[in-house]
Amino acid sequence: CGIVGYIGKKKASDILIDGLKKLEYRGYDSAGIAVLDNDQDILVYKQPGKVVNLEESVDEKVEGKTIGIAHTRWATHGEPTVENAHPHKSNNQEIVLVHNGIIENYKFLKDELIDHGFTFLGQTDTEVLVNYIQYIQDKHQLNIDDAVKKALQNVNGAYALAIIDKKEPNKMVVTRKGSPLAIGLTETNDEFYVASDAIPIIEHTQSLVYLNDNEVVVLERGQKMKITDLYGVEKSYKVKTLDLNLDKVSKGDYEHYMLKEIFEQPSTIKNTLFSHLNLENSNIHFENLDELKEKLVKASRIIIVSCGTSWHAGIVGEYIIEELARIPVEVEYASEFRYRNPIITKDDIVMAISQSGETADTLAALRYSKAQGATTFSICNVFNSSMARECDFTAYTYAGAEIGVASTKAFTAQVAVVSLLAIQLGLERNEITQERANSLVEEIKTLPSVVNHIFNTDEHIKSVAKNYTQTTSFLFLGRGINFPIALEGALKLKEISYIHAEGYPAAEMKHGPIAMIEESLPTVIIATNNEYYDKLVSNAQEVKARKGPIIAVVNEDDSEMIHTADFVFKVPRVSDMLQPIVAVIPLQLFSYHVAVLKGCNVDQPRNLAKSVTVE
Ligand code: G6P
Repeated sequence: CGIVGYIGKKKASDILIDGLKKLEYRGYDSAGIAVLDNDQDILVYKQPGKVVNLEESVDEKVEGKTIGIAHTRWATHGEPTVENAHPHKSNNQEIVLVHNGIIENYKFLKDELIDHGFTFLGQTDTEVLVNYIQYIQDKHQLNIDDAVKKALQNVNGAYALAIIDKKEPNKMVVTRKGSPLAIGLTETNDEFYVASDAIPIIEHTQSLVYLNDNEVVVLERGQKMKITDLYGVEKSYKVKTLDLNLDKVSKGDYEHYMLKEIFEQPSTIKNTLFSHLNLENSNIHFENLDELKEKLVKASRIIIVSCGTSWHAGIVGEYIIEELARIPVEVEYASEFRYRNPIITKDDIVMAISQSGETADTLAALRYSKAQGATTFSICNVFNSSMARECDFTAYTYAGAEIGVASTKAFTAQVAVVSLLAIQLGLERNEITQERANSLVEEIKTLPSVVNHIFNTDEHIKSVAKNYTQTTSFLFLGRGINFPIALEGALKLKEISYIHAEGYPAAEMKHGPIAMIEESLPTVIIATNNEYYDKLVSNAQEVKARKGPIIAVVNEDDSEMIHTADFVFKVPRVSDMLQPIVAVIPLQLFSYHVAVLKGCNVDQPRNLAKSVTVE
């Protein structure tokens, strides 16, 4: 889901539709735009499905319209229909608005509006919001910015909003709480760009302001941007100059972003390492960590909160940090964490792992922890994201923009950062020797070429994938540090090929999933060489004895699994701690090929959003 806005001198609809296309990667199921010109009615176009449908529906009436707002919607309240798509107009047809997020008290507001004679076309909370703004405007005779401020004082929930009012056609009002929003500025102030992230803006301007919660912005042609809080108190802002170009976020020669991002991993891992490792003396350093280092070293516990793929990186982190730094680690689904009255102390470090730095569940868990006195730390990929801004410390992953909804390069970068952190903490806490640290660091430095080497097996992985396009269910098994890789392998397959897949600790198979084993249920076993190898071979035998087909991820020098499995994906042998980054690669490629062979939309899988900014 995403928002784009433009006010200036150019044809707004072109900029808006182009911007929506650049936000497509975030996931959505309907799209719409609204444009306006002096003394004319607001024109709204909306379509279910993809932005191209919307583009085709736009007619010549948009010519000459130089202010507009646009939206891609990921359905929360109500199905992805035209009625429910944004922008939404108020009952008096004068105010139009796009919204990301969820209005939690919309039922209460709706009842109040119905009592005052308002009617509703669809089921969305957004339609309630636009009408509530009209209601407040009429009641108090306010201009649009003051009406928005006053209305929002009574609104609970999360939102990023862009609003225009026919009565004030030279103005756009923009605000956020919990959902990201950036404004692109130009030197002359005669045009402004608005978007949920920097990507739709960077081709127009590199000067961006990232809004903070509860800030209301008024954009007027020829006037300096003005920001206030909900009560009209003026706020200062910092302009960030970005150094992003569109090449970095294009597909290049690859058929899909996901494939490009998988193949980028040697360089993204290298980038991550370069950023936190002095390659000459192999010293690990995290910029600006100094003040917090003491706290981290003395932490009584690290609680990792995250979602989806980042949660899997968190579980890998648990194994690595506990092994090397001997700090107890708990890994929590961010969405569950704060609802069970968790015990948090000021000696705890709460660490969020997040590609986007905007996931609402993770952000809420962080804020909760901060309020309880914990020190907060984030591992994020998106520069200046909400988590990065709100945490006491952020270590960036430097994987570059990740566009494919199914996360790949962000995951390996997250694991790389966690590994370096664990080594540094292990050293500071005297839990590992300098020799062990050195040897791990030396090996980490080889990871980019190790990953590159695995790509030689891509054709083989693709040929194996051809056997599974009709398969309806998979089991993924791993032990120890490869258990989260079983989870991640299963998640990748689910996300992009819609094949049911379950990740399990290999030993748990006998406590349930073994009942499902039969010829039609393949099991993927991650059996790289470690202390559990023999046990995994036994698990594979148990599957085989029940006629279950097996795909195994093994080391190149494997001697046993290779005879039990129907297919093997070979990866180079590395230390236990570093196996996840290596073992995940063939599973990313496998899910990619299965999905492509099935004809699925790999980069924008149905129902998923890249950045989920609702709880
Ligand atoms: C969404 C995405 C997943 C991602 C998860 C967490 O569900 O589809 O790919 O792993 O959010 O996102 P984050 O940005 O916090 O890592």
